[in-house]
Amino acid sequence: MERICEPELMDDAAQAQAYAEADFAAADAAMVERMIEHFDDGSDTCGLGPRIVDLGCGPGNITFRLADRCRGSLVLGIDGSEPMLAIAEARRRMGAGWRHSVRLLQVLLPAIDQARTALPAGDWLGEGFSAVVSNSLLHHLHDPAVLWDAVRRLAAPGAAVYLQDLRRPPTPEAADAFTAAEMASAPEVLRRDYRHSLQAAFTKAEVAEQLERADLEGLQVQEVGPKYLEVWGRLA
Ligand SMILES: C[S@@+](CC[C@H](N)C(=O)[O-])C[C@H]1O[C@@H](n2cnc3c(N)ncnc32)[C@H](O)[C@@H]1O
Repeated sequence: MERICEPELMDDAAQAQAYAEADFAAADAAMVERMIEHFDDGSDTCGLGPRIVDLGCGPGNITFRLADRCRGSLVLGIDGSEPMLAIAEARRRMGAGWRHSVRLLQVLLPAIDQARTALPAGDWLGEGFSAVVSNSLLHHLHDPAVLWDAVRRLAAPGAAVYLQDLRRPPTPEAADAFTAAEMASAPEVLRRDYRHSLQAAFTKAEVAEQLERADLEGLQVQEVGPKYLEVWGRLA
């Protein structure tokens, strides 16, 4: 099936609200545990180190889970969508610990260097982030190189990198079937977005090529279950 891009930002208020209200808990929890399994060193940062950045954080589904799991880490969520970040900010205020451990920044990739200038001096700014993570951002980007460039610019030497995304099904019929199965009881806006996301997603071979071009061949890409891809590894 041919790739067709979808809009990059999820910046419609109703769309952001529907996404935030959807129950992705099981998939999100599974992703965070898989990530931790790859890097866990038994410390209170689960091997992800003192500063984690979550690219395309949306309403913070993964951001807050990481803050809860990796108590010794600070977690920065970055997204370009104002309504998504407004929801994330409201959630941040609800968790006493999150006020200290989570920050949120509105930055539109590729302008990732804005993140550094917007961060306060001190703990949030070191030689870079000890972990760069992302869930379901890659397929939104019209030029995927933007994400790999952001990884390079943000990561400290030896940083952990973990990224998960949908992978593009082989045929439109397979994409329709996934959508029907996954989004049976979801609102129309989510069903539509999910179908578009499947069509906009990359295959394993395409992501492997992106990594080669970005000189990030140290990262490995693998298929996870019938729907996902994950990319992970440590930078040199
Ligand atoms: C499908 S959501 C995933 C949200 C979150 N990572 C999660 O796991 O629930 C993708 C997010 O990426 C954001 N996004 C897409 N393109 C972006 C860009 N160029 N710069 C910053 N954020 C972007 C969207 O606004 C949206 O919030």
